[in-house]
Amino acid sequence: MLGKYKKIGVLTSGGDAPGMNAAIRAVVRSCSYYNIECIGIYRGYQGLIEGEFEVLTARSVRNVINRGGTFLKSARSQEFRSEEGRAKAASKMKEAGIEALVVIGGDGTFTGAIYLEQEHGIPVVGIPGTIDNDINGTDYTIGYDTALNTVVDAIDKIRDTASSHDRLFLIEVMGRDAGDIALNAGVGAGAEEILIPEEDMGVERMLDSLQKSRKTGKTSSIIVVAEGEKSGKNIFELAELIGESLEGYDIRVSVLGHIQRGGAPSCYDRVLASKLGVGAVEALLRGENRVMVGITNKLVTSVDFEVAIKGHKPLDKELRRVLDITSV
Ligand code: F6P
Repeated sequence: MLGKYKKIGVLTSGGDAPGMNAAIRAVVRSCSYYNIECIGIYRGYQGLIEGEFEVLTARSVRNVINRGGTFLKSARSQEFRSEEGRAKAASKMKEAGIEALVVIGGDGTFTGAIYLEQEHGIPVVGIPGTIDNDINGTDYTIGYDTALNTVVDAIDKIRDTASSHDRLFLIEVMGRDAGDIALNAGVGAGAEEILIPEEDMGVERMLDSLQKSRKTGKTSSIIVVAEGEKSGKNIFELAELIGESLEGYDIRVSVLGHIQRGGAPSCYDRVLASKLGVGAVEALLRGENRVMVGITNKLVTSVDFEVAIKGHKPLDKELRRVLDITSV
């Protein structure tokens, strides 16, 4: 290790995700391990602009590994989108003697980091924290596994009542641009059809599938709809369309919303966050910059921010095929 820095800052930005606290903890304790002072920055980039800093020691992060959300709080800062905002942030960092930054978040967070590095030469390393799993260069993002389990648990409960009443449920899950939650939780919870943002499956296919399954004796069904799916209709319009196109369905809609972002992180997310928190500090100490640390085949790896935010990993076509077979 080069041991080049004396003071490193850490912040969480964008939508929170279970496991962010575990990642902060790992960053703080790695700093302690390598004799670096760690500064917690509250409310993401907005707190960086406003100088909301606090020294974090190894003991400051006791009892947080198990807590959902982020104790540093998060924000989607409008001010940081402007050059003036970023200049303010850089000067606050300079004043406080913060030499480098670890940012935990998604693509918006990494885009902000690229500008900060470009315009002010501040070394930055990122950790992927978002329930959407929509970041390139890592097999999983922190929070995704917990969110999947939350969604499966909710769908299991809805299934109980759907089955008791012979009802069709449309369940909306998060994922503006990525269908990972919808596809994986949908298969895991035994959904009949899954609508995702990556491809427009066409509502005809869904109607067809419902008709076929009813003929084979299905009395209740679950359709999982990602919030960004591509049919051009919202979930209530989809429910209406099914009601108008097929007779005899008793249809209900359930929007899971932000419960998907809360709750204690799963063991998988805690371990991932711990590995990536250590990985981020060590990447900085090796002199890496403008990279995100991610997990690839269980190994901690680094990719340029540009690669991380470039787009989404390809859709798991095999899982789609599994769904088609298992939902007959
Ligand atoms: O990026 C994570 C995410 O939870 C998305 O799935 C969702 O579309 C969005 O954040 C919601 O953001 P907000 O909490 O700002 O409404």
